[in-house]
Amino acid sequence: MSDFEATKALFDLPDGMIYLDGNSLGPLPKAAAARVARTVTDEWGKMLITGWNKAGWMAQPTAIGDRIARLIGAEPGHVVMGDTLSIKVYQALASALELNPHRKVVLTDSGNFPSDIYMAEGLLKSLGKDYELRVVAPEDVRKNITEEIAVTMLTEVDYRTGRKHDMKHLTERAHAAGALTVWDLAHSAGAFPLHLAETGADFAVGCSYKYLNGGPGAPAFIYIAPQYRDHAHTVLNGWLGHATPFAFPLEYTPATGVDRMRIGTPAVVQMQILDAALDAWRGVDLNDLRAASVALSERLIAGVEANCPDLRLASPRDPEQRGSQVSFHFQDAYALCQALIARGIIGDFRAPDILRFGIAPLYIGTAEIDAAIAAISEIIKGRLWDRPEWKTRNAVT
Ligand SMILES: Cc1ncc(COP(=O)(O)O)c(C=O)c1O
Repeated sequence: MSDFEATKALFDLPDGMIYLDGNSLGPLPKAAAARVARTVTDEWGKMLITGWNKAGWMAQPTAIGDRIARLIGAEPGHVVMGDTLSIKVYQALASALELNPHRKVVLTDSGNFPSDIYMAEGLLKSLGKDYELRVVAPEDVRKNITEEIAVTMLTEVDYRTGRKHDMKHLTERAHAAGALTVWDLAHSAGAFPLHLAETGADFAVGCSYKYLNGGPGAPAFIYIAPQYRDHAHTVLNGWLGHATPFAFPLEYTPATGVDRMRIGTPAVVQMQILDAALDAWRGVDLNDLRAASVALSERLIAGVEANCPDLRLASPRDPEQRGSQVSFHFQDAYALCQALIARGIIGDFRAPDILRFGIAPLYIGTAEIDAAIAAISEIIKGRLWDRPEWKTRNAVT
Protein backbone atom coordinates (compact mmCIF):
# COMPACT_ATOMS: atom_id res chain seq x y z
CA MET A 1 0.00 0.00 0.00
CA SER A 2 1.48 3.36 -0.96
CA ASP A 3 2.13 5.82 1.84
CA PHE A 4 1.17 9.26 0.59
CA GLU A 5 1.88 10.94 3.94
CA ALA A 6 5.46 9.76 3.48
CA THR A 7 5.67 11.02 -0.11
CA LYS A 8 4.22 14.39 0.90
CA ALA A 9 7.05 14.77 3.43
CA LEU A 10 9.53 14.52 0.54
CA PHE A 11 8.38 17.87 -0.89
CA ASP A 12 9.16 21.37 0.23
CA LEU A 13 5.73 23.00 0.07
CA PRO A 14 5.53 26.56 1.44
CA ASP A 15 3.57 26.83 4.70
CA GLY A 16 -0.03 27.75 4.12
CA MET A 17 0.09 27.01 0.40
CA ILE A 18 -2.21 24.47 -1.21
CA TYR A 19 -0.59 23.50 -4.44
CA LEU A 20 -3.01 22.31 -7.09
CA ASP A 21 -0.83 23.15 -10.07
CA GLY A 22 1.47 20.13 -10.24
CA ASN A 23 -0.05 19.39 -13.64
CA SER A 24 1.84 22.46 -14.83
CA LEU A 25 4.96 22.54 -12.64
CA GLY A 26 5.54 20.02 -9.86
CA PRO A 27 6.80 21.25 -6.46
CA LEU A 28 10.36 21.19 -5.17
CA PRO A 29 11.54 17.82 -3.85
CA LYS A 30 13.50 18.34 -0.63
CA ALA A 31 16.34 16.22 -1.99
CA ALA A 32 16.85 18.51 -4.99
CA ALA A 33 18.87 21.26 -3.31
CA ALA A 34 21.45 18.84 -1.87
CA ARG A 35 21.69 17.06 -5.21
CA VAL A 36 22.29 20.33 -7.04
CA ALA A 37 24.91 21.36 -4.48
CA ARG A 38 26.67 18.02 -4.89
CA THR A 39 26.57 18.19 -8.67
CA VAL A 40 27.78 21.75 -8.83
CA THR A 41 30.33 21.74 -6.01
CA ASP A 42 31.66 18.20 -5.86
CA GLU A 43 31.22 17.11 -9.44
CA TRP A 44 31.50 20.15 -11.69
CA GLY A 45 33.64 22.07 -9.19
CA LYS A 46 36.12 19.31 -8.42
CA MET A 47 35.96 16.96 -11.37
CA LEU A 48 35.44 19.52 -14.13
CA ILE A 49 35.48 17.82 -17.53
CA THR A 50 36.18 14.40 -15.99
CA GLY A 51 32.67 14.51 -14.50
CA TRP A 52 31.31 13.26 -17.82
CA ASN A 53 32.89 9.88 -17.03
CA LYS A 54 33.51 9.90 -13.29
CA ALA A 55 30.14 11.25 -12.23
CA GLY A 56 28.27 9.38 -14.95
CA TRP A 57 26.86 12.53 -16.58
CA MET A 58 27.01 11.02 -20.07
CA ALA A 59 24.98 7.97 -19.06
CA GLN A 60 22.24 9.97 -17.31
CA PRO A 61 19.83 10.39 -20.25
CA THR A 62 19.38 6.64 -20.64
CA ALA A 63 19.69 5.80 -16.91
CA ILE A 64 16.92 8.28 -16.09
CA GLY A 65 15.03 7.15 -19.20
CA ASP A 66 14.88 3.69 -17.66
CA ARG A 67 13.45 5.12 -14.44
CA ILE A 68 10.76 6.92 -16.45
CA ALA A 69 10.15 3.74 -18.48
CA ARG A 70 9.03 1.99 -15.30
CA LEU A 71 6.48 4.73 -14.66
CA ILE A 72 5.03 4.67 -18.16
CA GLY A 73 5.01 0.93 -18.71
CA ALA A 74 7.73 0.96 -21.37
CA GLU A 75 10.37 -1.67 -21.94
CA PRO A 76 13.78 -0.84 -20.38
CA GLY A 77 16.20 0.63 -22.90
CA HIS A 78 13.49 2.33 -24.93
CA VAL A 79 13.26 5.78 -23.31
CA VAL A 80 15.87 8.53 -23.39
CA MET A 81 15.86 12.01 -21.86
CA GLY A 82 16.85 15.30 -23.42
CA ASP A 83 15.85 18.59 -24.98
CA THR A 84 12.37 20.06 -24.60
CA LEU A 85 9.09 18.37 -25.30
CA SER A 86 8.43 20.53 -28.37
CA ILE A 87 11.72 19.31 -29.88
CA LYS A 88 10.88 15.70 -29.05
CA VAL A 89 7.42 16.07 -30.66
CA TYR A 90 9.13 17.25 -33.83
CA GLN A 91 11.68 14.46 -33.76
CA ALA A 92 9.13 11.71 -33.07
CA LEU A 93 6.73 12.96 -35.72
CA ALA A 94 9.42 13.36 -38.37
CA SER A 95 10.81 9.93 -37.58
CA ALA A 96 7.35 8.32 -37.69
CA LEU A 97 6.57 9.99 -41.03
CA GLU A 98 9.71 8.51 -42.56
CA LEU A 99 8.55 5.07 -41.47
CA ASN A 100 5.35 5.53 -43.47
CA PRO A 101 6.69 7.28 -46.56
CA HIS A 102 3.78 6.77 -48.96
CA ARG A 103 1.28 8.63 -46.82
CA LYS A 104 1.21 12.39 -46.31
CA VAL A 105 -1.48 13.17 -43.74
CA VAL A 106 -0.88 13.70 -40.02
CA LEU A 107 -4.02 13.48 -37.92
CA THR A 108 -4.34 15.42 -34.70
CA ASP A 109 -7.14 17.01 -32.69
CA SER A 110 -8.10 20.46 -31.54
CA GLY A 111 -7.54 19.44 -27.91
CA ASN A 112 -3.84 18.99 -28.58
CA PHE A 113 -1.39 21.39 -27.01
CA PRO A 114 -0.71 24.24 -29.45
CA SER A 115 3.06 23.71 -29.44
CA ASP A 116 2.57 20.18 -30.84
CA ILE A 117 0.44 21.60 -33.62
CA TYR A 118 2.91 24.40 -34.33
CA MET A 119 5.82 21.95 -34.46
CA ALA A 120 3.90 19.69 -36.82
CA GLU A 121 3.01 22.63 -39.08
CA GLY A 122 6.65 23.70 -39.20
CA LEU A 123 7.81 20.20 -40.03
CA LEU A 124 5.20 19.56 -42.71
CA LYS A 125 5.90 22.90 -44.34
CA SER A 126 9.55 21.97 -44.74
CA LEU A 127 8.62 18.52 -46.08
CA GLY A 128 6.61 19.98 -48.93
CA LYS A 129 3.19 20.95 -50.19
CA ASP A 130 1.79 17.45 -50.43
CA TYR A 131 1.88 17.02 -46.65
CA GLU A 132 -1.20 17.91 -44.64
CA LEU A 133 -1.96 18.38 -40.97
CA ARG A 134 -5.58 17.38 -40.37
CA VAL A 135 -7.05 18.77 -37.15
CA VAL A 136 -10.38 17.28 -36.02
CA ALA A 137 -12.44 17.46 -32.84
CA PRO A 138 -11.17 15.07 -30.13
CA GLU A 139 -14.36 12.99 -30.30
CA ASP A 140 -13.93 12.61 -34.06
CA VAL A 141 -10.39 11.23 -34.01
CA ARG A 142 -11.41 7.60 -34.27
CA LYS A 143 -13.59 7.98 -37.34
CA ASN A 144 -10.92 10.07 -39.08
CA ILE A 145 -8.23 7.41 -38.82
CA THR A 146 -8.49 6.35 -42.45
CA GLU A 147 -6.05 4.72 -44.82
CA GLU A 148 -4.82 8.17 -45.83
CA ILE A 149 -3.30 8.81 -42.41
CA ALA A 150 0.46 8.40 -42.07
CA VAL A 151 0.70 9.25 -38.37
CA THR A 152 -1.72 10.11 -35.59
CA MET A 153 -0.18 12.73 -33.30
CA LEU A 154 -2.26 12.95 -30.15
CA THR A 155 -1.88 14.18 -26.60
CA GLU A 156 -3.49 11.61 -24.37
CA VAL A 157 -4.84 14.09 -21.81
CA ASP A 158 -6.24 17.46 -22.90
CA TYR A 159 -4.33 20.20 -21.06
CA ARG A 160 -7.47 22.30 -20.57
CA THR A 161 -10.21 19.85 -19.65
CA GLY A 162 -8.30 16.75 -18.56
CA ARG A 163 -10.24 14.66 -21.12
CA LYS A 164 -8.36 11.43 -21.70
CA HIS A 165 -8.18 9.56 -24.99
CA ASP A 166 -8.34 5.77 -25.02
CA MET A 167 -4.73 5.20 -26.02
CA LYS A 168 -4.95 1.47 -26.52
CA HIS A 169 -8.07 1.64 -28.62
CA LEU A 170 -6.87 4.51 -30.85
CA THR A 171 -3.46 2.89 -31.29
CA GLU A 172 -5.10 -0.34 -32.41
CA ARG A 173 -7.35 1.58 -34.78
CA ALA A 174 -4.35 3.47 -36.21
CA HIS A 175 -2.40 0.28 -36.77
CA ALA A 176 -5.40 -1.38 -38.40
CA ALA A 177 -5.50 1.53 -40.85
CA GLY A 178 -1.74 1.33 -41.49
CA ALA A 179 -0.86 4.48 -39.52
CA LEU A 180 1.81 5.00 -36.86
CA THR A 181 1.18 6.72 -33.55
CA VAL A 182 2.94 9.51 -31.70
CA TRP A 183 1.55 10.01 -28.19
CA ASP A 184 2.29 13.07 -26.07
CA LEU A 185 2.20 11.98 -22.43
CA ALA A 186 2.90 15.39 -20.85
CA HIS A 187 -0.25 15.17 -18.71
CA SER A 188 -0.11 11.39 -18.26
CA ALA A 189 3.37 10.45 -17.00
CA GLY A 190 3.22 10.33 -13.21
CA ALA A 191 -0.50 11.10 -13.28
CA PHE A 192 -1.82 7.52 -13.58
CA PRO A 193 -0.58 4.05 -14.61
CA LEU A 194 0.46 3.80 -18.24
CA HIS A 195 1.09 0.62 -20.20
CA LEU A 196 2.97 1.90 -23.19
CA ALA A 197 4.47 -1.41 -24.27
CA GLU A 198 1.09 -3.12 -24.00
CA THR A 199 -0.74 -0.46 -26.00
CA GLY A 200 1.70 -0.97 -28.87
CA ALA A 201 2.37 2.77 -29.24
CA ASP A 202 5.08 3.49 -31.80
CA PHE A 203 6.48 6.73 -30.39
CA ALA A 204 5.75 8.60 -27.20
CA VAL A 205 7.10 11.81 -25.76
CA GLY A 206 6.54 13.75 -22.58
CA CYS A 207 7.93 16.29 -20.18
CA SER A 208 9.23 15.77 -16.68
CA TYR A 209 8.40 19.09 -15.01
CA LYS A 210 4.72 18.36 -14.36
CA TYR A 211 3.71 15.23 -12.38
CA LEU A 212 7.31 13.98 -12.35
CA ASN A 213 8.49 17.06 -10.43
CA GLY A 214 11.77 17.56 -12.31
CA GLY A 215 11.68 21.37 -11.95
CA PRO A 216 11.32 24.25 -14.42
CA GLY A 217 13.04 23.39 -17.69
CA ALA A 218 13.45 19.70 -16.81
CA PRO A 219 14.32 17.49 -19.81
CA ALA A 220 11.76 15.77 -22.01
CA PHE A 221 11.62 12.05 -22.74
CA ILE A 222 11.13 10.10 -25.93
CA TYR A 223 10.11 6.46 -26.35
CA ILE A 224 10.54 4.35 -29.49
CA ALA A 225 8.90 0.95 -29.78
CA PRO A 226 11.26 -2.06 -30.07
CA GLN A 227 10.56 -2.67 -33.76
CA TYR A 228 11.86 0.81 -34.71
CA ARG A 229 14.42 1.43 -32.00
CA ASP A 230 17.40 0.30 -34.04
CA HIS A 231 16.45 1.67 -37.43
CA ALA A 232 14.25 4.76 -37.04
CA HIS A 233 15.74 7.83 -38.65
CA THR A 234 16.59 10.24 -35.87
CA VAL A 235 16.03 13.30 -38.13
CA LEU A 236 17.79 15.67 -35.72
CA ASN A 237 21.18 14.07 -36.20
CA GLY A 238 23.08 15.45 -33.23
CA TRP A 239 26.51 14.15 -32.38
CA LEU A 240 25.42 12.43 -29.17
CA GLY A 241 23.00 10.26 -31.14
CA HIS A 242 25.95 9.05 -33.21
CA ALA A 243 27.23 5.48 -32.85
CA THR A 244 30.76 6.74 -32.12
CA PRO A 245 30.55 10.43 -31.16
CA PHE A 246 34.10 10.60 -29.86
CA ALA A 247 35.55 9.25 -33.08
CA PHE A 248 34.20 12.45 -34.66
CA PRO A 249 33.56 11.06 -38.16
CA LEU A 250 32.01 13.42 -40.67
CA GLU A 251 29.39 10.88 -41.75
CA TYR A 252 26.44 10.38 -39.48
CA THR A 253 25.88 6.81 -38.27
CA PRO A 254 23.16 6.59 -35.66
CA ALA A 255 23.73 4.66 -32.46
CA THR A 256 21.86 1.43 -32.02
CA GLY A 257 19.10 1.58 -29.47
CA VAL A 258 17.25 4.56 -28.09
CA ASP A 259 20.53 6.48 -27.72
CA ARG A 260 20.08 7.45 -31.35
CA MET A 261 17.34 9.88 -30.31
CA ARG A 262 19.83 11.91 -28.29
CA ILE A 263 20.86 15.18 -29.89
CA GLY A 264 23.41 17.24 -28.00
CA THR A 265 24.90 17.87 -24.57
CA PRO A 266 22.46 16.93 -21.80
CA ALA A 267 21.44 19.50 -19.19
CA VAL A 268 23.32 17.80 -16.36
CA VAL A 269 22.08 19.83 -13.41
CA GLN A 270 18.45 19.48 -14.52
CA MET A 271 18.95 15.75 -15.02
CA GLN A 272 20.25 15.42 -11.46
CA ILE A 273 17.26 17.29 -10.05
CA LEU A 274 14.96 14.97 -11.97
CA ASP A 275 16.86 11.92 -10.76
CA ALA A 276 16.42 13.10 -7.16
CA ALA A 277 12.73 13.84 -7.80
CA LEU A 278 12.12 10.35 -9.14
CA ASP A 279 13.11 8.87 -5.76
CA ALA A 280 9.65 9.96 -4.54
CA TRP A 281 8.15 7.15 -6.64
CA ARG A 282 9.94 4.39 -4.72
CA GLY A 283 7.29 2.29 -3.04
CA VAL A 284 4.42 4.02 -4.87
CA ASP A 285 1.97 1.74 -6.62
CA LEU A 286 0.52 3.67 -9.54
CA ASN A 287 -2.82 1.93 -9.06
CA ASP A 288 -2.98 3.41 -5.55
CA LEU A 289 -2.04 6.78 -7.03
CA ARG A 290 -4.88 6.52 -9.52
CA ALA A 291 -7.40 5.46 -6.87
CA ALA A 292 -6.39 8.41 -4.69
CA SER A 293 -6.48 10.80 -7.64
CA VAL A 294 -10.01 9.72 -8.59
CA ALA A 295 -11.25 9.97 -4.98
CA LEU A 296 -9.76 13.47 -4.55
CA SER A 297 -11.08 14.62 -7.93
CA GLU A 298 -14.59 13.35 -7.13
CA ARG A 299 -14.44 15.14 -3.79
CA LEU A 300 -13.42 18.41 -5.44
CA ILE A 301 -16.13 18.17 -8.09
CA ALA A 302 -18.84 17.33 -5.55
CA GLY A 303 -17.75 20.11 -3.18
CA VAL A 304 -17.55 22.78 -5.86
CA GLU A 305 -20.82 21.77 -7.52
CA ALA A 306 -22.66 21.74 -4.19
CA ASN A 307 -21.45 25.20 -3.23
CA CYS A 308 -20.78 27.09 -6.46
CA PRO A 309 -23.45 26.59 -9.13
CA ASP A 310 -21.77 29.34 -11.20
CA LEU A 311 -18.86 27.01 -11.92
CA ARG A 312 -19.53 24.45 -14.64
CA LEU A 313 -17.50 21.27 -14.83
CA ALA A 314 -15.27 21.36 -17.92
CA SER A 315 -13.73 17.93 -17.30
CA PRO A 316 -15.49 14.69 -18.19
CA ARG A 317 -17.76 13.56 -15.36
CA ASP A 318 -16.71 9.94 -15.80
CA PRO A 319 -13.36 9.47 -13.97
CA GLU A 320 -12.39 6.83 -16.54
CA GLN A 321 -12.30 9.58 -19.13
CA ARG A 322 -10.23 12.02 -17.10
CA GLY A 323 -6.53 12.36 -16.47
CA SER A 324 -5.53 13.74 -13.08
CA GLN A 325 -6.92 17.23 -13.24
CA VAL A 326 -10.27 18.88 -12.70
CA SER A 327 -11.30 21.96 -14.66
CA PHE A 328 -14.26 24.28 -14.40
CA HIS A 329 -15.68 26.94 -16.70
CA PHE A 330 -16.33 30.29 -15.08
CA GLN A 331 -16.99 33.60 -16.82
CA ASP A 332 -14.16 35.34 -14.98
CA ALA A 333 -11.91 32.35 -14.40
CA TYR A 334 -8.74 34.44 -14.53
CA ALA A 335 -9.89 36.76 -11.74
CA LEU A 336 -11.14 33.83 -9.67
CA CYS A 337 -7.79 32.10 -10.09
CA GLN A 338 -5.92 35.23 -8.95
CA ALA A 339 -8.19 35.63 -5.92
CA LEU A 340 -7.48 32.00 -4.99
CA ILE A 341 -3.73 32.43 -5.47
CA ALA A 342 -3.84 35.43 -3.11
CA ARG A 343 -5.18 33.01 -0.46
CA GLY A 344 -2.48 30.44 -1.14
CA ILE A 345 -4.65 28.11 -3.23
CA ILE A 346 -2.66 27.63 -6.41
CA GLY A 347 -4.48 26.46 -9.52
CA ASP A 348 -4.21 28.02 -12.94
CA PHE A 349 -6.16 29.58 -15.75
CA ARG A 350 -6.36 28.54 -19.37
CA ALA A 351 -7.99 30.77 -21.96
CA PRO A 352 -10.76 31.53 -22.51
CA ASP A 353 -12.58 30.63 -19.29
CA ILE A 354 -11.02 27.59 -17.62
CA LEU A 355 -9.86 27.21 -14.04
CA ARG A 356 -7.68 24.09 -13.66
CA PHE A 357 -6.66 22.10 -10.64
CA GLY A 358 -4.03 19.38 -10.82
CA ILE A 359 -4.55 16.46 -8.46
CA ALA A 360 -1.25 14.94 -7.37
CA PRO A 361 -1.71 12.48 -4.49
CA LEU A 362 2.05 12.41 -3.86
CA TYR A 363 1.52 15.63 -1.91
CA ILE A 364 -2.23 16.45 -2.05
CA GLY A 365 -4.78 14.87 0.29
CA THR A 366 -8.36 15.46 1.42
CA ALA A 367 -7.39 18.37 3.72
CA GLU A 368 -6.02 20.31 0.74
CA ILE A 369 -9.09 19.56 -1.38
CA ASP A 370 -11.45 20.64 1.40
CA ALA A 371 -9.53 23.87 1.93
CA ALA A 372 -9.71 24.59 -1.80
CA ILE A 373 -13.47 23.95 -1.86
CA ALA A 374 -13.97 26.27 1.12
CA ALA A 375 -11.91 29.05 -0.47
CA ILE A 376 -13.61 28.77 -3.87
CA SER A 377 -17.05 28.84 -2.19
CA GLU A 378 -16.23 31.89 -0.12
CA ILE A 379 -14.80 33.80 -3.07
CA ILE A 380 -17.76 32.95 -5.30
CA LYS A 381 -20.44 33.63 -2.69
CA GLY A 382 -18.91 37.00 -1.77
CA ARG A 383 -18.01 37.87 -5.41
CA LEU A 384 -14.53 38.46 -4.03
CA TRP A 385 -13.02 37.75 -7.45
CA ASP A 386 -14.71 40.86 -8.86
CA ARG A 387 -11.90 43.31 -8.24
CA PRO A 388 -9.77 45.18 -10.76
CA GLU A 389 -6.51 43.89 -9.25
CA TRP A 390 -7.47 40.29 -10.10
CA LYS A 391 -8.18 41.10 -13.73
CA THR A 392 -4.82 42.28 -15.02
CA ARG A 393 -3.25 39.37 -16.86
CA ASN A 394 0.30 38.27 -16.10
CA ALA A 395 2.53 37.05 -18.94
CA VAL A 396 2.30 33.48 -17.63
CA THR A 397 -1.19 32.41 -16.65
C1 LIG B 1 0.84 18.47 -23.96
C2 LIG B 1 2.03 19.37 -24.10
N1 LIG B 1 2.83 19.25 -25.18
C3 LIG B 1 3.89 20.05 -25.35
C4 LIG B 1 4.22 21.03 -24.44
C5 LIG B 1 5.41 21.91 -24.68
O1 LIG B 1 6.46 21.53 -23.86
P1 LIG B 1 7.87 22.30 -23.84
O2 LIG B 1 7.60 23.71 -23.47
O3 LIG B 1 8.64 21.58 -22.77
O4 LIG B 1 8.49 22.19 -25.17
C6 LIG B 1 3.43 21.18 -23.28
C7 LIG B 1 3.75 22.19 -22.27
O5 LIG B 1 3.12 22.35 -21.26
C8 LIG B 1 2.29 20.32 -23.12
O6 LIG B 1 1.48 20.44 -22.06
